[in-house]
Amino acid sequence: MAHDSAHDSTASAATSEAAGARAPAAAPAAARPARITVPWVRSRKVADGADPLVMVTAYDAPGARIADDAGVDMILVGDSLAMVVLGYDDTLSVTVEDMAHHTAAVARARPSALVVGDLPWMSYHVSVEETVRNAAQLIRAGAQCVKLEGGSKRLTMIEALIDAEIPVMGHLGLTPQSMHAMGGFRVQAKESEAALALVADAKALAHAGCFAIVLEGVPDEVARMVTDAVDVPTIGIGAGPRCDGQVLVYHDLLGLEDRTPAKFVRRYADLKQASVAAVGEFVADVRGGAFPDHSESYHLDSAQAEALSLYGAAVD
Ligand code: KIV
Repeated sequence: MAHDSAHDSTASAATSEAAGARAPAAAPAAARPARITVPWVRSRKVADGADPLVMVTAYDAPGARIADDAGVDMILVGDSLAMVVLGYDDTLSVTVEDMAHHTAAVARARPSALVVGDLPWMSYHVSVEETVRNAAQLIRAGAQCVKLEGGSKRLTMIEALIDAEIPVMGHLGLTPQSMHAMGGFRVQAKESEAALALVADAKALAHAGCFAIVLEGVPDEVARMVTDAVDVPTIGIGAGPRCDGQVLVYHDLLGLEDRTPAKFVRRYADLKQASVAAVGEFVADVRGGAFPDHSESYHLDSAQAEALSLYGAAVD
Protein backbone atom coordinates (compact mmCIF):
# COMPACT_ATOMS: atom_id res chain seq x y z
CA MET A 1 0.00 0.00 0.00
CA ALA A 2 1.42 3.38 -0.98
CA HIS A 3 1.19 6.26 1.43
CA ASP A 4 2.19 9.81 0.65
CA SER A 5 4.61 11.04 3.28
CA ALA A 6 4.69 14.47 1.59
CA HIS A 7 1.71 15.38 3.78
CA ASP A 8 4.10 15.64 6.69
CA SER A 9 5.02 19.12 7.78
CA THR A 10 8.73 18.34 7.13
CA ALA A 11 8.42 19.45 3.50
CA SER A 12 6.39 22.57 4.21
CA ALA A 13 8.72 23.59 7.07
CA ALA A 14 11.72 23.39 4.73
CA THR A 15 9.91 25.47 2.11
CA SER A 16 8.86 28.21 4.54
CA GLU A 17 12.38 28.45 6.02
CA ALA A 18 13.84 28.77 2.51
CA ALA A 19 11.39 31.60 1.89
CA GLY A 20 12.67 33.40 4.99
CA ALA A 21 9.63 32.62 7.15
CA ARG A 22 10.01 31.85 10.86
CA ALA A 23 10.41 28.12 11.50
CA PRO A 24 7.40 26.62 13.29
CA ALA A 25 7.86 26.11 17.04
CA ALA A 26 6.89 22.43 16.94
CA ALA A 27 9.38 19.82 15.78
CA PRO A 28 8.64 18.58 12.26
CA ALA A 29 6.36 15.55 12.25
CA ALA A 30 8.04 12.20 11.60
CA ALA A 31 7.58 10.64 8.16
CA ARG A 32 4.81 8.07 7.89
CA PRO A 33 6.34 4.65 8.59
CA ALA A 34 5.64 1.71 6.28
CA ARG A 35 3.97 0.07 9.25
CA ILE A 36 2.21 2.50 11.56
CA THR A 37 3.60 2.58 15.09
CA VAL A 38 2.33 3.85 18.42
CA PRO A 39 5.03 6.60 18.66
CA TRP A 40 4.09 7.85 15.20
CA VAL A 41 0.41 8.10 16.15
CA ARG A 42 1.39 9.75 19.44
CA SER A 43 3.15 12.52 17.47
CA ARG A 44 0.16 13.43 15.26
CA LYS A 45 -1.32 16.62 16.70
CA VAL A 46 -3.09 18.67 14.06
CA ALA A 47 -1.94 21.83 15.88
CA ASP A 48 1.64 20.74 15.14
CA GLY A 49 0.91 20.46 11.42
CA ALA A 50 -0.12 16.80 11.19
CA ASP A 51 -2.93 15.60 8.97
CA PRO A 52 -5.92 14.26 10.92
CA LEU A 53 -5.60 10.61 11.86
CA VAL A 54 -8.06 8.14 10.35
CA MET A 55 -9.25 5.05 12.20
CA VAL A 56 -11.92 2.56 11.19
CA THR A 57 -13.13 -0.57 12.89
CA ALA A 58 -12.67 -4.02 11.34
CA TYR A 59 -13.35 -7.46 12.73
CA ASP A 60 -11.97 -9.89 10.14
CA ALA A 61 -9.28 -10.24 7.48
CA PRO A 62 -11.30 -8.98 4.48
CA GLY A 63 -12.43 -5.91 6.43
CA ALA A 64 -8.87 -5.24 7.54
CA ARG A 65 -7.62 -5.51 3.94
CA ILE A 66 -10.28 -3.09 2.71
CA ALA A 67 -9.49 -0.56 5.46
CA ASP A 68 -5.75 -0.92 4.91
CA ASP A 69 -5.96 -0.64 1.12
CA ALA A 70 -8.03 2.54 1.62
CA GLY A 71 -5.11 4.02 3.59
CA VAL A 72 -6.42 4.29 7.17
CA ASP A 73 -3.85 4.89 9.90
CA MET A 74 -5.43 2.62 12.50
CA ILE A 75 -7.74 -0.38 12.54
CA LEU A 76 -9.74 -0.72 15.74
CA VAL A 77 -10.99 -4.21 16.51
CA GLY A 78 -13.76 -2.60 18.51
CA ASP A 79 -16.10 -4.22 20.98
CA SER A 80 -18.79 -2.85 18.62
CA LEU A 81 -18.13 -6.37 17.27
CA ALA A 82 -20.90 -7.35 19.69
CA MET A 83 -23.51 -5.23 17.94
CA VAL A 84 -22.50 -5.11 14.27
CA VAL A 85 -21.20 -8.66 13.84
CA LEU A 86 -22.45 -10.87 16.67
CA GLY A 87 -26.00 -9.51 16.84
CA TYR A 88 -26.13 -8.33 20.46
CA ASP A 89 -28.04 -5.16 21.44
CA ASP A 90 -25.08 -3.65 23.28
CA THR A 91 -21.35 -4.21 23.75
CA LEU A 92 -21.51 -5.85 27.18
CA SER A 93 -21.67 -9.49 26.05
CA VAL A 94 -18.37 -9.84 24.22
CA THR A 95 -15.51 -11.59 25.99
CA VAL A 96 -11.74 -11.35 25.80
CA GLU A 97 -11.81 -14.63 23.84
CA ASP A 98 -14.22 -13.12 21.27
CA MET A 99 -12.02 -10.04 20.96
CA ALA A 100 -8.83 -12.10 20.63
CA HIS A 101 -10.42 -14.32 17.96
CA HIS A 102 -11.34 -11.29 15.82
CA THR A 103 -8.08 -9.44 16.55
CA ALA A 104 -6.18 -12.45 15.24
CA ALA A 105 -8.29 -12.46 12.05
CA VAL A 106 -7.51 -8.76 11.47
CA ALA A 107 -3.80 -9.26 12.22
CA ARG A 108 -3.59 -12.13 9.70
CA ALA A 109 -4.27 -9.56 6.98
CA ARG A 110 -0.89 -8.01 7.98
CA PRO A 111 -2.16 -4.43 7.66
CA SER A 112 0.28 -1.55 7.62
CA ALA A 113 -2.24 0.29 9.80
CA LEU A 114 -1.82 0.10 13.58
CA VAL A 115 -4.05 -2.64 15.03
CA VAL A 116 -5.85 -1.51 18.19
CA GLY A 117 -7.46 -4.23 20.31
CA ASP A 118 -10.48 -3.13 22.36
CA LEU A 119 -10.62 -4.43 25.92
CA PRO A 120 -14.20 -5.59 26.57
CA TRP A 121 -16.28 -4.79 29.61
CA MET A 122 -15.10 -6.52 32.82
CA SER A 123 -11.71 -7.37 31.35
CA TYR A 124 -9.96 -4.44 33.07
CA HIS A 125 -12.18 -3.78 36.09
CA VAL A 126 -11.44 -6.54 38.58
CA SER A 127 -7.71 -6.55 39.26
CA VAL A 128 -4.44 -5.28 37.87
CA GLU A 129 -3.27 -8.83 37.25
CA GLU A 130 -6.38 -9.79 35.28
CA THR A 131 -6.18 -6.54 33.32
CA VAL A 132 -2.60 -7.14 32.23
CA ARG A 133 -3.27 -10.79 31.36
CA ASN A 134 -6.35 -9.89 29.31
CA ALA A 135 -4.53 -7.13 27.46
CA ALA A 136 -1.64 -9.53 26.78
CA GLN A 137 -4.13 -11.92 25.18
CA LEU A 138 -5.06 -9.22 22.65
CA ILE A 139 -1.41 -8.34 22.04
CA ARG A 140 -0.57 -12.01 21.48
CA ALA A 141 -3.49 -12.18 19.05
CA GLY A 142 -1.81 -9.45 16.99
CA ALA A 143 -2.87 -6.06 18.40
CA GLN A 144 -0.08 -3.50 18.85
CA CYS A 145 -1.93 -1.67 21.63
CA VAL A 146 -5.21 -1.79 23.53
CA LYS A 147 -8.07 0.63 24.08
CA LEU A 148 -10.11 0.92 27.24
CA GLU A 149 -12.98 3.12 28.37
CA GLY A 150 -13.06 5.51 31.31
CA GLY A 151 -11.22 8.35 33.01
CA SER A 152 -9.35 8.84 36.25
CA LYS A 153 -10.79 5.73 37.89
CA ARG A 154 -8.92 3.60 35.33
CA LEU A 155 -5.50 5.11 36.06
CA THR A 156 -4.18 2.18 38.13
CA MET A 157 -4.97 -0.26 35.32
CA ILE A 158 -3.59 2.06 32.64
CA GLU A 159 -0.33 2.50 34.54
CA ALA A 160 0.01 -1.26 35.03
CA LEU A 161 -0.51 -1.89 31.31
CA ILE A 162 2.04 0.75 30.35
CA ASP A 163 4.46 -0.77 32.90
CA ALA A 164 3.99 -4.07 31.08
CA GLU A 165 4.94 -2.31 27.80
CA ILE A 166 1.38 -2.42 26.46
CA PRO A 167 0.47 0.93 24.88
CA VAL A 168 -2.98 2.22 25.83
CA MET A 169 -5.51 4.32 23.92
CA GLY A 170 -8.06 5.99 26.19
CA HIS A 171 -11.78 6.43 25.46
CA LEU A 172 -13.85 9.19 27.12
CA GLY A 173 -17.29 10.75 26.77
CA LEU A 174 -20.06 8.39 25.71
CA THR A 175 -18.45 5.14 26.77
CA PRO A 176 -20.85 2.38 25.63
CA GLN A 177 -19.68 -0.06 28.32
CA SER A 178 -21.19 2.39 30.88
CA MET A 179 -24.58 2.43 29.13
CA HIS A 180 -26.51 1.35 32.24
CA ALA A 181 -24.75 3.87 34.47
CA MET A 182 -25.32 6.60 31.87
CA GLY A 183 -28.99 5.66 31.32
CA GLY A 184 -28.44 4.72 27.66
CA PHE A 185 -26.32 5.91 24.77
CA ARG A 186 -26.42 9.63 25.60
CA VAL A 187 -24.25 12.56 24.54
CA GLN A 188 -22.00 13.39 27.50
CA ALA A 189 -20.42 16.55 28.96
CA LYS A 190 -23.25 18.87 27.95
CA GLU A 191 -23.03 20.85 31.20
CA SER A 192 -20.01 23.03 32.00
CA GLU A 193 -19.09 21.05 35.12
CA ALA A 194 -19.12 17.75 33.23
CA ALA A 195 -17.13 19.35 30.41
CA LEU A 196 -14.43 20.44 32.86
CA ALA A 197 -14.40 16.97 34.45
CA LEU A 198 -13.92 15.47 30.98
CA VAL A 199 -10.97 17.78 30.31
CA ALA A 200 -9.48 16.77 33.69
CA ASP A 201 -9.95 13.07 32.84
CA ALA A 202 -8.28 13.54 29.46
CA LYS A 203 -5.31 15.28 31.06
CA ALA A 204 -5.02 12.47 33.61
CA LEU A 205 -5.03 9.82 30.85
CA ALA A 206 -2.41 11.70 28.83
CA HIS A 207 -0.29 12.20 31.95
CA ALA A 208 -0.53 8.49 32.75
CA GLY A 209 0.88 7.72 29.30
CA CYS A 210 -2.09 7.02 27.00
CA PHE A 211 -0.81 7.65 23.47
CA ALA A 212 -4.18 8.81 22.08
CA ILE A 213 -7.72 9.35 23.35
CA VAL A 214 -11.02 8.53 21.63
CA LEU A 215 -13.71 11.14 22.34
CA GLU A 216 -17.17 9.77 21.72
CA GLY A 217 -20.52 11.57 21.82
CA VAL A 218 -19.51 14.93 23.22
CA PRO A 219 -20.26 18.46 22.00
CA ASP A 220 -17.89 19.85 19.40
CA GLU A 221 -16.86 22.69 21.76
CA VAL A 222 -15.91 20.23 24.51
CA ALA A 223 -13.92 18.07 22.09
CA ARG A 224 -12.02 21.18 21.10
CA MET A 225 -11.26 22.01 24.75
CA VAL A 226 -9.91 18.50 25.29
CA THR A 227 -7.91 18.55 22.05
CA ASP A 228 -6.30 21.84 23.08
CA ALA A 229 -5.65 20.61 26.62
CA VAL A 230 -3.72 17.41 25.86
CA ASP A 231 -0.55 16.83 23.87
CA VAL A 232 -1.70 13.42 22.59
CA PRO A 233 -4.05 13.09 19.62
CA THR A 234 -7.80 12.98 20.19
CA ILE A 235 -9.83 10.81 17.86
CA GLY A 236 -13.47 11.77 17.59
CA ILE A 237 -16.66 9.86 16.93
CA GLY A 238 -19.69 12.08 17.30
CA ALA A 239 -17.35 14.74 18.69
CA GLY A 240 -17.22 17.23 15.81
CA PRO A 241 -14.37 18.16 13.50
CA ARG A 242 -11.96 19.67 16.02
CA CYS A 243 -10.23 16.48 17.07
CA ASP A 244 -6.85 15.24 15.82
CA GLY A 245 -8.55 12.38 13.99
CA GLN A 246 -11.84 10.62 13.33
CA VAL A 247 -13.09 7.06 13.69
CA LEU A 248 -16.20 5.38 12.28
CA VAL A 249 -17.56 1.89 12.59
CA TYR A 250 -17.00 -0.08 9.36
CA HIS A 251 -20.60 -1.27 9.07
CA ASP A 252 -21.93 2.26 9.58
CA LEU A 253 -19.76 3.95 6.99
CA LEU A 254 -20.36 1.23 4.40
CA GLY A 255 -24.11 1.03 5.05
CA LEU A 256 -23.98 -2.66 5.98
CA GLU A 257 -26.56 -1.96 8.69
CA ASP A 258 -30.31 -1.50 8.56
CA ARG A 259 -30.53 0.40 11.83
CA THR A 260 -31.09 4.14 11.60
CA PRO A 261 -27.58 5.53 11.88
CA ALA A 262 -26.59 7.98 14.62
CA LYS A 263 -26.42 11.67 13.64
CA PHE A 264 -22.63 11.57 13.40
CA VAL A 265 -22.49 8.70 10.88
CA ARG A 266 -21.79 9.55 7.27
CA ARG A 267 -22.65 6.66 4.96
CA TYR A 268 -20.23 6.34 2.07
CA ALA A 269 -21.97 3.33 0.50
CA ASP A 270 -25.17 1.32 0.81
CA LEU A 271 -23.70 -2.17 0.83
CA LYS A 272 -26.68 -3.73 2.64
CA GLN A 273 -28.99 -2.81 -0.23
CA ALA A 274 -26.40 -3.70 -2.88
CA SER A 275 -25.79 -7.06 -1.18
CA VAL A 276 -29.49 -7.94 -0.90
CA ALA A 277 -29.90 -7.10 -4.60
CA ALA A 278 -26.90 -9.27 -5.57
CA VAL A 279 -27.99 -12.27 -3.48
CA GLY A 280 -31.52 -11.79 -4.82
CA GLU A 281 -30.20 -12.14 -8.38
CA PHE A 282 -28.47 -15.38 -7.38
CA VAL A 283 -31.76 -16.67 -5.93
CA ALA A 284 -33.59 -15.81 -9.17
CA ASP A 285 -30.87 -17.36 -11.38
CA VAL A 286 -30.88 -20.67 -9.46
CA ARG A 287 -34.66 -20.90 -9.42
CA GLY A 288 -34.86 -19.94 -13.10
CA GLY A 289 -32.18 -22.47 -14.18
CA ALA A 290 -29.78 -19.73 -15.31
CA PHE A 291 -27.06 -20.65 -12.80
CA PRO A 292 -24.66 -22.35 -13.24
CA ASP A 293 -24.14 -22.20 -17.01
CA HIS A 294 -21.73 -24.21 -19.19
CA SER A 295 -18.73 -21.99 -18.46
CA GLU A 296 -19.33 -22.19 -14.71
CA SER A 297 -19.26 -26.04 -14.70
CA TYR A 298 -16.43 -28.60 -14.91
CA HIS A 299 -16.40 -30.97 -17.90
CA LEU A 300 -14.89 -34.31 -18.84
CA ASP A 301 -12.59 -34.34 -21.84
CA SER A 302 -14.22 -35.80 -24.95
CA ALA A 303 -12.50 -39.26 -24.70
CA GLN A 304 -13.73 -39.75 -21.15
CA ALA A 305 -17.15 -38.44 -22.04
CA GLU A 306 -17.34 -40.87 -24.92
CA ALA A 307 -16.19 -43.79 -22.75
CA LEU A 308 -18.81 -43.03 -20.17
CA SER A 309 -21.52 -42.59 -22.73
CA LEU A 310 -20.86 -46.32 -23.75
CA TYR A 311 -22.26 -47.16 -20.36
CA GLY A 312 -25.25 -44.92 -20.82
CA ALA A 313 -24.07 -41.96 -18.80
CA ALA A 314 -25.88 -38.79 -19.74
CA VAL A 315 -23.04 -36.61 -21.03
CA ASP A 316 -23.74 -33.71 -23.37
O1 KIV B 1 -15.96 -0.48 19.66
C1 KIV B 1 -15.90 0.50 18.90
O2 KIV B 1 -16.23 0.43 17.71
C2 KIV B 1 -15.45 1.77 19.45
C3 KIV B 1 -15.53 2.97 18.58
C4 KIV B 1 -16.93 3.46 18.55
C5 KIV B 1 -14.58 4.03 19.00
O3 KIV B 1 -15.05 1.82 20.58
